[in-house]
Amino acid sequence: MDYCHLLPLGAVLAAAAFVSAQSAPALKDAYKSDFYIGVAIGDTQIGGEDQRGDALIDSQFNSISPENALKWEEVHPQPDKYDFRMADQYVAFGEQHHMFIVGHTLIWERQVPAWVFHDAKGNLLGRDALLARMRDHIDTVVGRYKGRIQSWDVVNEALNEDGTLRPSLWFKIIGPDYIEKAFQYAHEADPAAQLTYNDYNLENPAKCKGAVALVKKLQAEGIPINAVGIQGHLRLDSPTPEQEDAAISAFAALGVKVAITELDIDVLPSAGYGPTADVSLRVRQDPKLNPYVNGLPDSVQQQLADRYAAFFRVFLKHRGALSRVTFWGVTDADSWLNDWPVKGRTSYPLLFDRSGQPKPAFQGILRVASEK
Ligand code: G3I
Repeated sequence: MDYCHLLPLGAVLAAAAFVSAQSAPALKDAYKSDFYIGVAIGDTQIGGEDQRGDALIDSQFNSISPENALKWEEVHPQPDKYDFRMADQYVAFGEQHHMFIVGHTLIWERQVPAWVFHDAKGNLLGRDALLARMRDHIDTVVGRYKGRIQSWDVVNEALNEDGTLRPSLWFKIIGPDYIEKAFQYAHEADPAAQLTYNDYNLENPAKCKGAVALVKKLQAEGIPINAVGIQGHLRLDSPTPEQEDAAISAFAALGVKVAITELDIDVLPSAGYGPTADVSLRVRQDPKLNPYVNGLPDSVQQQLADRYAAFFRVFLKHRGALSRVTFWGVTDADSWLNDWPVKGRTSYPLLFDRSGQPKPAFQGILRVASEK
């Protein structure tokens, strides 16, 4: 054998992935009888500046989520000013591509301007005044897209890791029923919309129990909640597929749908923190935390493919309860994980590489669909 002409394994894998992606069924078609296959999109995709990304979104996915376009700071930057330019383009993009359109997110303690919680003199608002602001925002935003956005992440990341409520300003000023109020206002603004509680690390049993208790409380009070969003920011080493299985089962048992809302698998060394997606985390740059600047080793590509396949087997097991599996970004270049918790890393958490080519993980997920 003339070894000098033998292609390196990575090139063979990439070529095989590319060839097979052209001839393989699309992700959305492989799972069309099970659940939506979604993707979070950013301003460049929404605005048509990323034609390659838009082609991938159109060909591979049948649901979209807005990475940032519908967050409070984006659409409601000042007390008397709404700015729907990007959000309008996002919804139009979804309608143009016949997508199941998700709204993310109405009430969160992040990416919300400080004025929301303060009066003109800079003093913290009281309960009634903040409830009035919350209602105005939800009525205006949800009302604007009534019948066009099918599902809303109404409240995002309200729980601590032990399942108790995070001490956000929403909680401190209004009280624990800020969650009920948010769902009630969203339902009144669009009674047909699917309303979701969304959080990360719900595979953690204590946090899962807290979310189960939260859903049961809303149900007992007659507050409309239709789904729980398990974000699915995974790592190569945690959580286990069994923990995922248990979390989905726990929420499905409540009679609500389950959505995997922000799926990615971080292959980079952890920065010493346990499983989290807390965006406030920041870690100093360190070459040891950024080992794959020149490309991902084949062995890690394969680990990533195997890991995605293991979780998609769990998702298929729960196909009756799952409404969607949404990836948090189109290609590796788009991922928030390139800058969190360490800025400027080269991360590889998604199905398509920086050239927009399918990775072995893409094939792995298609293979699981063929096992049905
Ligand atoms: O819009 C400003 C821009 O004007 C400025 O020049 C630039 C430079 O700092 O920042 C831009 O804002 C950035 C924003 O994304 C829009 O691009 C923020 O700095 C940046 O922190 C923000 O990151 C987002 C993160 O949420 C922050 O909360 C990520 O893109 C987004 O992927 C991430 O998504 C969250 C989900 O909403 C909730 N679950 C966790 C998930 C990952 O953190």
